[in-house]
Amino acid sequence: MGSPPLAKRLEAVKPSATVAITDRARQLKADGKDVISFSVGEPDFGTPEHIQKAAIDSIVGGKASHYTAARGIVELRQAICEDSARRRGGQRHQPNEVVVSVGAKHTLFNLALALYDEGDEVIVPAPYWVSYPEHAAIVGAKPVIVETTQEGGFRLTPEALRKAVTPKTKALVLCTPSNPTGAAYAPEHLAELAEVIREGSYWVIVDEMYSELVYGGFEQRSLLEIAPDLRERLIIVDGVSKTYAMTGWRIGWMLGPAHVAAACDKVQGQSTTNPTAAAQWAAVAALTGPREPIEAMRKQFEERRAVIVEEMNQIPGFDCRVPEGAFYAFPSVKGLIGKKADGVVLADDVAVCTYLLEKAGVALVPGTAFGAPGFLRMSYATSVEIIREGLRRIREAVEALD
Ligand SMILES: Cc1ncc(COP(=O)(O)O)c(C=O)c1O
Repeated sequence: MGSPPLAKRLEAVKPSATVAITDRARQLKADGKDVISFSVGEPDFGTPEHIQKAAIDSIVGGKASHYTAARGIVELRQAICEDSARRRGGQRHQPNEVVVSVGAKHTLFNLALALYDEGDEVIVPAPYWVSYPEHAAIVGAKPVIVETTQEGGFRLTPEALRKAVTPKTKALVLCTPSNPTGAAYAPEHLAELAEVIREGSYWVIVDEMYSELVYGGFEQRSLLEIAPDLRERLIIVDGVSKTYAMTGWRIGWMLGPAHVAAACDKVQGQSTTNPTAAAQWAAVAALTGPREPIEAMRKQFEERRAVIVEEMNQIPGFDCRVPEGAFYAFPSVKGLIGKKADGVVLADDVAVCTYLLEKAGVALVPGTAFGAPGFLRMSYATSVEIIREGLRRIREAVEALD
């Protein structure tokens, strides 16, 4: 007798490609190969000390022993509202419009369960963060992928959005600054998109996980601030993972209309219940504590961005625009496709990545994983020395191609 079948819904879902390449790089390392990884999506810094201490104090002080409200402690939701008003032009949410989850990925998953029905269409601009289409697919909705271009700054254009909307459109998912491209929407781009959004009645989910990591004086503004009239349809996703170097703590949240928060609370109440109490107290300290350690990390990312973009653009076959934010560079490697490595043609970006991993010991993520064949994602959440050494190895491997 064989085992009974798995759920059909998983047939539409792909495993995380970024995790797959990180695992392969880890395996090579375990086998003794010297691998430099540019594939990770998390800061290389440790969580600032005052945040660590707040978690320890909550444990020792007996504040972390019990369940909290499923949607998070009121102190954290209050801090989120304050922080959001500060960063979003004074647009204020109330604690009943916030749900804290086990990371922003969990927040987005809750939203998929709470908002999408089978057959609904969810517009996702490509290059996209890998989980958006999969979250839609897992609940039976249809991701509608809309391409953007490198020349167009990897931004969804108003025309492309208008064309993608149908009577079945349930949501648009925007990510700014973006993982994987680092591209961000300037206020005028958001204003143009808002005009098209007003023509419809779908949800707009804006993932602003990287909105404090912008560089070169880029004017980061939230769609909420640019188009407050959309507030009843607008859901912001945010968290502490990237800004505060807290990926391991697993705290993310949504801000949106109270009935959407109530729906997410209902979903979460039947799955994880509350995020870990000590991690919530750590997040309170992150949001209310000193800004200097956070600004110091941002500055380092900014320095690394300059090095990576300038040096990468000197490698033949690489073409990289300057990303406005996050900690990713997203070069085109179309100039390398069709070249030969030891007589074997590099047919696509996946082959280029595999070649660079095996030949140069450098782990990158193929653009195909993000719906953007012909590109690579290179995370610069690593030291300038390692960035320089990685690029040196890439150049050497590229120069060995025929
Ligand atoms: C764009 C974007 N959104 C959400 C997340 C999820 O972050 P977390 O679950 O760590 O809060 C990530 C993490 O890689 C991301 O890049």
